[in-house]
Amino acid sequence: TPFSRITGTGSFLPPRRVTNDDLAQELAARGIETSDQWIIERTGIRARHFAAPDVSSSDLGLEAAKHALEAAGRSAADIDLIIVATSTPDMVFPSSAAILQHKLGIAGCAAFDVQAVCSGFVYALTVADAMIRTGSAKCALVVGAEVFSRILDFNDRTTCVLFGDGAGAVILEASNEPGILASDLHADGKHVGILCVPGHVAGGEVLGKPLLHMDGQAVFKLAVRVLEEAARATLAKAGKTEADIDWLIPHQANIRIMEGTAKKLKLARDKLIVTVDEHGNTSAASIPLALDAAVRSGKVKKGDTLMLEGVGGGFTWGAVLLTY
Ligand code: ACO
Repeated sequence: TPFSRITGTGSFLPPRRVTNDDLAQELAARGIETSDQWIIERTGIRARHFAAPDVSSSDLGLEAAKHALEAAGRSAADIDLIIVATSTPDMVFPSSAAILQHKLGIAGCAAFDVQAVCSGFVYALTVADAMIRTGSAKCALVVGAEVFSRILDFNDRTTCVLFGDGAGAVILEASNEPGILASDLHADGKHVGILCVPGHVAGGEVLGKPLLHMDGQAVFKLAVRVLEEAARATLAKAGKTEADIDWLIPHQANIRIMEGTAKKLKLARDKLIVTVDEHGNTSAASIPLALDAAVRSGKVKKGDTLMLEGVGGGFTWGAVLLTY
């Protein structure tokens, strides 16, 4: 089996939906001013979902995984590899993947987390593809799951309005038909300061601020450039051109970055899958959430060529081209 192919997708959003107006009201109580109009104009976000305090990334990932298994016609017992992309893991250790494995009622298969912030899902999918093609796995569960509400600074209006919680999952199986066609991953650690959660645990205490810090304009400028580069490199590796892309499914951070990338790839606006309006930025969960929404709405059909693209803290970025 020379290929790996997605055989099922699933997603889950925590039930509490917070509109921009809801959030503006909560922030006003802290003396911080924002508005639905500012958030929509700058980001395209209208609402996001926030998990209850006792709900973890693995809880959200479990629901997404169940939906993906059902779509693939598989049961948890068929899974022989679990990779969870998250920057908001349940614990320092063990991995959220190991915790998710137990919640799925299975044991024994390899399970680990991938930490590449908002690029986490394209990293995780690339690792799972490589493990399947080299024969280490046949049926992988690849999850992006986040509770970013836990690491937001609600005294910083420039960041707290941007993010949300959720999870998405795919089942990736060994296949004789082409699925994942090519991928391209990168990181440049010199940009650590423009997007980070600097807090860490030491001597039983949290040292440094355990809340998200971002220089939005610096991230914006880098993001548009590297997303175009990664997309072009991935197309070249697969021997394809922009014209072969049926759907662009980028990390859902900001509608202006997403539309800018589509334009650079000369793609019509209606080839861009958009969920940022209803989900906000869910980091590693945003691409599988958008993919599942596009599959379930009937937009993405079997045989379509999809370009997935992620960019985030690290700085990390990458793309995966696949036949659905
Ligand atoms: N409500 C109202 N006003 C605000 C808010 C808010 N929530 N936030 C900032 N402002 C104000 C600022 O204080 C500033 O006011 P000033 O002009 O009086 O100083 C004004 O709005 C404009 O601020 P800018 O920072 O210049 O706004 P910009 O147009 O750059 O938009 C944004 C900010 C949305 C963060 C943008 O830079 C962006 O999207 N960057 C990319 C961020 C991103 O995509 N991150 C995620 C990628 S990686 C990952 O997902 C982890």
